[in-house]
Amino acid sequence: MYIVGVFYSLLVLVSANYESYKVYSVIPANRTHIELLGLLLSTDKLDFWSRLSYDSRSVDIMVPPQEQRDFIMYLKKHDIQYEVLIDNLETVIQREHVKQQLIPRTFRGKISFSKYNTFNDINAYLYQLQMDYHNLVKLQNIGTTYEKRGMVVIQISSNPSANNPIIFIDGGIHAREWIAPAQVLYIINQLVENPANRDLLDDVDWHILPVANPDGYEYSQTINHRMWRKTRSQQAKNCMGTDANRNFEFYWGLSGASSNPCADTYKGPKPFSEVETQNLRDYLLKIKKNAKLYLTFHSYGNLILYPWGYTSELPHDEFELRTLAKEVNDAIVKAGGPSYTIGSSTNVLYAAAGGSDDWAKGVAGIELSYTIELPGGKKNGFDIPANEILKVVNQTFAGMIVYGKYISVKY
Ligand code: ARG
Ligand code: ZN
Repeated sequence: MYIVGVFYSLLVLVSANYESYKVYSVIPANRTHIELLGLLLSTDKLDFWSRLSYDSRSVDIMVPPQEQRDFIMYLKKHDIQYEVLIDNLETVIQREHVKQQLIPRTFRGKISFSKYNTFNDINAYLYQLQMDYHNLVKLQNIGTTYEKRGMVVIQISSNPSANNPIIFIDGGIHAREWIAPAQVLYIINQLVENPANRDLLDDVDWHILPVANPDGYEYSQTINHRMWRKTRSQQAKNCMGTDANRNFEFYWGLSGASSNPCADTYKGPKPFSEVETQNLRDYLLKIKKNAKLYLTFHSYGNLILYPWGYTSELPHDEFELRTLAKEVNDAIVKAGGPSYTIGSSTNVLYAAAGGSDDWAKGVAGIELSYTIELPGGKKNGFDIPANEILKVVNQTFAGMIVYGKYISVKY
């Protein structure tokens, strides 16, 4: 009995969720190929890591062991080229996990850009900033999550009574996109702690939510759930979570969202079914009079997207949205970063309704609304390796300066 017990716990230790999962980089050669791959989007068994788009050279797809045979047969039948990007995902995740553990814990209240921080470390940093910079920083608890974690917005303002225009930024609506909270934290760090950026606070207030899906973020940091994307609410007997970025009430469920509670892009039982999206909605409605720019960070794909996500029609101010995105991209490239593809969500990607960006523009009336898909890790897994975080977030920050100046000049 005892021996069985020991053996069993050993088994549990080595049992792995992503053993033999593969990630394929699929290279469509024409529109037909893209449409054939598009058909796979609606099967809930494959997980598109990077998004399928008409101008991307390749798309990365995670395939569980039991689907690999059919998947490869489908590609071969239609003569679609592919490469194996990751042969065994479990190995890559284990490696990332070990590396994370080896990086020493930061002191409470300090933030690191050489590792992905835990939700607690992120909050401790925010509270430390409030203490150290009390005339610049104010924290606002905007509500609690399904698992009762607090959602904290940091308000950065050098003149709170000036009624300045507000830039609102969030990250981490999707749990596994770890680079997004890291990026957002770097923006906070630079705005608050780098005196060279003080002028960015002269005419603009910045309200920032670093982790929009805390339950999911924490869950994705447990070893067997690295690829978790959704919230953590109970939806069906064996299926948890809603895709928060399909849960906003604006043409909810019209396109690119699943009705299957077990699917990764589940839209939820009703619009704003999730307490996390409710909290974000209520906060944005509260600041909407002054909010002039909404930025939401995701990964990956190197894209700057603007509405609409629910339709291929373009918004009335598409020219302004595109021109500003180009300036942002130019600044990122100039800082040594990658070049981003720019366009409306539906035209650059696929239609997907219920996103926070569409809602911010369509309902809250924040006309300048963008989703930024940051770089990903590819061979190294979903996110870039921790030792590259600082480089990437610093390059992207060059684009934030452009956004800040644009808002301060326009309003
Ligand atoms: N990768 C993001 C997602 O799938 C893109 C969102 C773009 N915006 C939209 N409203 N579809 O959620
Ligand atoms: Zn995302």
